[in-house]
Amino acid sequence: EKGGYPHFMLKEIFEQPECLTNCMRGRVNVDTDNVVLSAVIDYKKQLLNANRFIIIACGTSWHAGLIGKQILESLCRIPVEVEYASEFRYRNPVITSKDVVIAISQSGETADTLAAIKLAKENGAFIYGICNAIGSSIPRSTDTGSYIHVGPEIGVASTKAFTGQVTVLSMLALALAKEKGTISNEAYLSIVKELHAIPQKMEEVLKLNDRIADLSRIFTYARNFLYLGRGYNYPVALEGALKLKEISYIHAEGYPAAEMKHGPIALIDSDMPVVVIATHNAMYEKVLNNIQEIKARKGKVIAIVTEGDNTISRIADEVIELPDTIECLEPLLSTIPLQLLAYHIAVCKGKNVDQPRNLAKSVTVE
Ligand code: F6R
Repeated sequence: EKGGYPHFMLKEIFEQPECLTNCMRGRVNVDTDNVVLSAVIDYKKQLLNANRFIIIACGTSWHAGLIGKQILESLCRIPVEVEYASEFRYRNPVITSKDVVIAISQSGETADTLAAIKLAKENGAFIYGICNAIGSSIPRSTDTGSYIHVGPEIGVASTKAFTGQVTVLSMLALALAKEKGTISNEAYLSIVKELHAIPQKMEEVLKLNDRIADLSRIFTYARNFLYLGRGYNYPVALEGALKLKEISYIHAEGYPAAEMKHGPIALIDSDMPVVVIATHNAMYEKVLNNIQEIKARKGKVIAIVTEGDNTISRIADEVIELPDTIECLEPLLSTIPLQLLAYHIAVCKGKNVDQPRNLAKSVTVE
C-alpha cells in the first residue's frame, strides 16, 4: 500500500501535487476566476464581522498557522494571532464573541487543540476547523470548517497535511478578502491563477529528488543544522528543522534569517550546515547578505533559490532551484526540498522514517 515507494513518507511527499488538486477541487475555479469555500458562504456574517482571528494548533499544524497569519493579515487586513494550543489553554487568554478561532489539526484528535477549542467556545468565540481526518473529534466540536482532503497521512512526520493546510488557509484568505473588498481584483486574479498552477510546479520541484538524495549523503555527519528564512519562508524554516529533528535525530533550529546575528551566528563554523531559503522576493538582498555572513565564517550553505539565480549559486555550497511563484504561495514549493532533505538524511542514517522513536501520529494526551 506504499504504492511502490520504500516509505509512506516518500509516497506522501510525492502525492502532494495530487493532494492539492483534490484540496482545491470545486473550490478554486480558474474558469470563473473564483475561490469558493462553503464555510465562507454559510458563515459569512460571523467571519466578516470578526475583530480578530486566533489560530490554535500544535507542531507542524502550528507552522501552517504562522503562514496563514501572514496571508490572512496581508489579504484581509484582520489581525491574526497564532498560538500553541497547549499554551493558550492554560494562560487565561482574552477571548470574546468577536473572535474567530481557527483550529488546525491533521488528526483532529490532538488533546491540547481540542481543549483550547472548548475554552474558546465557552468564551463565545466562533470556531472554524481546518482538519484532515473526516469525522474526527475536532471537526465535530467546531462551528464550521474546511477539510483539507489530502487523504490519510500514515508517515508520522507530517508532509502533505502541511501543504494541504497552507492551501486551505490561502483559499480562506482569498475568499474573505474578496468579500471584505480588501484585495484588488488584479491581485486576486493573479493569486487564484497561481494557486491553481501550484500542483504543476510541485511536480517540477519533485524532479529534484535524486539531486537532494545525493547531497543528503554529504550532510549525514552533522550534529546540528540551522534553517533560515524570512517572511512567508520563516515558518518553512521552522518546519524544515522540525522534519529533520523528528526523523534523523539531528538537532536543528529554524530562525528568521535576520535574527541570526542576535545569537545563532555564534554557532557557525566549518561543521555547521545552514539551510537558507533565499528565493527571489522582497527579502532577497537581505537573505543574500546572511549567506555572505555564513560563508565568511566557513559555514556550509544549502540554498533554496529561484530558478535562474546566478548570484547565490556562486557563493553557496549547494543550490536547489525552485520555479518562480507569487511570494505568498512560496511555502507550498519551498517546503518540498526540505521534506526531501530530512527524508534522505534519515534514510542515509538508517533511521525508521515512518515511525520515528518516541513519536505518535496523533497526540491524544497532553
Ligand atoms: C510533525 C507532526 C506533529 C503534528 C502535531 C499536531 O511532523 O506530525 O508536530 O503536526 O502533533 O498534530 P495534528 O495536526 O494532528 O493536530
